[in-house]
Amino acid sequence: MNISDFLQSGCEVLAGVTDTPRLDVELLLLKALGKERSYLYTWPEQLLTDEQLVIAKQLLQRRQKGEPVAYIIGRRDFWDFSVEVTSATLIPRPETELLVELALQKYDQEAVLDIADLGTGSGILAIALAREFPDSAVYAVDLSKDAIEVARRNSESLQLKNIAFKCGSWLEPFAGKAFDLIVSNPPYIEDTDDHLEQGDVRFEPRSALVSGGDGLGDIRLIAEQAISHLKFGGVLAVEHGYQQGKAVRDIFVAVGLEKVETEQDLQGHDRVTVGHRSLSDASPE
Ligand SMILES: C[S@@+](CC[C@H](N)C(=O)[O-])C[C@H]1O[C@@H](n2cnc3c(N)ncnc32)[C@H](O)[C@@H]1O
Repeated sequence: MNISDFLQSGCEVLAGVTDTPRLDVELLLLKALGKERSYLYTWPEQLLTDEQLVIAKQLLQRRQKGEPVAYIIGRRDFWDFSVEVTSATLIPRPETELLVELALQKYDQEAVLDIADLGTGSGILAIALAREFPDSAVYAVDLSKDAIEVARRNSESLQLKNIAFKCGSWLEPFAGKAFDLIVSNPPYIEDTDDHLEQGDVRFEPRSALVSGGDGLGDIRLIAEQAISHLKFGGVLAVEHGYQQGKAVRDIFVAVGLEKVETEQDLQGHDRVTVGHRSLSDASPE
């Protein structure tokens, strides 16, 4: 079988399993071949070896059973780079790039900042910010030791020297440390949400997705802790569900953050809420 025929039959196998059968089968075949994407278009008539065909079919079967492509091939693109992902990490989502865009709107790229990424997972936010703000120090934390190991490997393979990784809960590992910018894409799904049983999400770690009860428990904790870990004028920016904008704004205001606003993603959904610590301590003497 040649490349073109495999792609065509793979699309038929994945029809109804995924919204992106052609892209999925291309990525799986590239994994089996160990090649770059242009190879498929340059050599469509190239015959697959028996070994390549066996591997490609095995990968296709895993996708047919619903396993996410990112976990099968072990990688996902984010911002302007690609990272390793494993079953210990969330699969990076394009909407999370909004946090990086907001940071770039607020700060000069030559600025010397202290930045925290809470719940770093595969490390995508810490890595994007460390690349965009090369003179800044980025501190990334996750409760999952396995996720931190993946994030550290990703940082090393991209040769970043300005990220420090910590294993722990939210800002607890940073006693006495204050930041200019704290970003987070925390768990924010209610544990009863039907989406947890659908699509790729079924394979992702619950601890990366679910924040029990109303889905806002972790955002409350982060906001409460952040207010004493932000420098004057410092910024907290947190990703959340599209129906959680008002609730998150209320949480931010309740902890004393100012100029609180919710930003929309490319689909026009509420996605990130931003708040600022006051410019000075206004408490009376
Ligand atoms: C929604 S995922 C986001 C991962 C990554 N930042 C991204 O955007 O792809 C949330 C992350 O928070 C981590 N997490 C959950 N509870 C935590 C806690 N108490 N402290 C630190 N990290 C936590 C999870 O392990 C997971 O990696």
